[in-house]
Amino acid sequence: MKKLSKTAISAIAITAALSGPMQLNAAEEVKIEHLGTRNTLVRVPDAGKYLLLPVQDSNDDAKINVLVDGKLDKTINVRLAKSKVDYYVPFDLTPYKGHDLVLTVVTSQDRSSVREAKDDACWSNLTISDTFDTANREKYRPLFHHTPLWGWMNDPNGMFYKDGVWHLYFQHNPYGSKWQNLSWGHSTSTDLINWEQQPEALEPDGLGMIFSGSSAVDRTGSAGFGKDAVVAMYTSAAESQIQSLAWSDDNGATFTTYPGNPVLTLESEARDPNMFRDEKNNRWVLTLAHALEHEMLIFTSPDMKTWTLESAFGKGIGAQGGVWECPDLFELTVDGSGEKKWVLLCNLNPGGIFGGSATQYFVGDFDGKTFTADTDAEGNIPTKWLDFGKDHYAAVSWSDAPDNRRTLIGWMSNWQYAAEVPTLQFRSANTLPREIGLFKAGDGQIYASYSPSPELLALRDRAVTKSRGFNIGSKPRRIALPSENDGVCEIVITLNGQKADSIDLELQNEAGEKVVMTYNVSGNSLSFDRRNSGVTDFSHDFPAVTTAPTFNSDGKLCLRIFIDRSSIEVFESDGKFAMTNLVFPTKPYSSLSVSAKGGKARVDGIEVYSIKVK
Ligand code: FRU
Repeated sequence: MKKLSKTAISAIAITAALSGPMQLNAAEEVKIEHLGTRNTLVRVPDAGKYLLLPVQDSNDDAKINVLVDGKLDKTINVRLAKSKVDYYVPFDLTPYKGHDLVLTVVTSQDRSSVREAKDDACWSNLTISDTFDTANREKYRPLFHHTPLWGWMNDPNGMFYKDGVWHLYFQHNPYGSKWQNLSWGHSTSTDLINWEQQPEALEPDGLGMIFSGSSAVDRTGSAGFGKDAVVAMYTSAAESQIQSLAWSDDNGATFTTYPGNPVLTLESEARDPNMFRDEKNNRWVLTLAHALEHEMLIFTSPDMKTWTLESAFGKGIGAQGGVWECPDLFELTVDGSGEKKWVLLCNLNPGGIFGGSATQYFVGDFDGKTFTADTDAEGNIPTKWLDFGKDHYAAVSWSDAPDNRRTLIGWMSNWQYAAEVPTLQFRSANTLPREIGLFKAGDGQIYASYSPSPELLALRDRAVTKSRGFNIGSKPRRIALPSENDGVCEIVITLNGQKADSIDLELQNEAGEKVVMTYNVSGNSLSFDRRNSGVTDFSHDFPAVTTAPTFNSDGKLCLRIFIDRSSIEVFESDGKFAMTNLVFPTKPYSSLSVSAKGGKARVDGIEVYSIKVK
């Protein structure tokens, strides 16, 4: 079957064109035979590029066995429509040209008769087509954030940079907008703004689904896959979670799985291998989440295939509420001092700062084998959070980024409600790409800074507002947001609250929905209230207030705020904090109102930019 999947990879064309189903003659029609109350056989004609599968999100999965010339090629799980079609997913037919293609479908519904089973909406709506419509029409689809063109997405993973291209892989279900059939989706960009979705890079195989992992360019060919091969290490997830390798000799477009897999097994749940090159010791270092033990294991290897356990970090340290997942370990220089420190990212779920999933990190030292976290003045290891919103998870960095950069991206959702958010053809976006750094704060401790990547300045189109400043009191001063693209924009605002208790920034729309951000001057904090932000009732965990420390004490706060249809990311202008929250307003937010409480305040400057993408 290898030959088939290779063809699949090169032949998938993702088109945005709109066209109706093809006219087929009798020999080219899909033939459906109902074999039992839950069992149906579908003969697929050798015509067209896609079989469009009708999906109903609320239905249970049907198991579809794909038989090619009578042999099982793969099994996929799809929520085939029962009473109505929510959307379609494309099953690519190009790999099967010239072959006999039969799908045997086992549905989940309880049926009293075959006649009843025949009425399911999926059967009359199975369609052969030469195109699959991925045009960006959903109201909550972001304009300038990466989303899959269709299907479910969770963690970003396996990212690397090579020859001017940023490769972003992601946990993808190409057959529906809920978590299932985990594959590595793949998108590429040369500017971190415009992303082009590529064919799936890794799909479930006999060892299981393809969970999160990492990739590295093997410059010396140490793994035996050739010099400059891109080597991916990921978790194969089935009955057990085991670690596997795959390599690519075409810059990450297609991967071949290593026949010696798995390369690492443990008795209890372990996942999300993240490896990097330790040049000094001429070997590879791997961090692996020992999920239920709340620890990150550190291994070393000369060749990525044989791994030696060196140490474990985490027992009893930091937030312990849920499983530990998606580690990342890297060195950074502390801003201004030149001191080198290591950062260990430990994503955890649940148990995040505002409930559900979130990213905690530790600052410390790494000697090539063991990570030791810094302590505070009392000798404790403090829990630090990388982002102070509810929708930032599984953040990891690109390997081999240029100019010594440490560029990260996160999944912009939360396991509490990710599968329920009000989108259909796609579910979930990534955060904006960000640069991580380190700074020493007033309490003497070292924290991570987290700023939008410099490339994002190119998003700015027109300055629809540019003001050198004005005084504010209790009466709100209203600033219009851009009229184009549903008001997506970047706002840069400098607040001066030295003579006030607090300053409110309110985003409002015609429907009376709002997001309230409050700068609490004496509390040195910024809060974000999305309880009345629009559609919030799909999960009781969604309405929430999140709060970030501002790391300042002079009453002045400069913010960069990115609004993109269903997300708001707030950054302190030097990256001292970041806060990422989803919102689902029924109408776009059209204005920003600024007011002060407990005294007069000032806006020392405000710029609002409309956004352009290619
Ligand atoms: C984190 C996670 C990872 C796992 C992946 C599966 O969100 O649970 O630990 O590899 O998602 O999709």
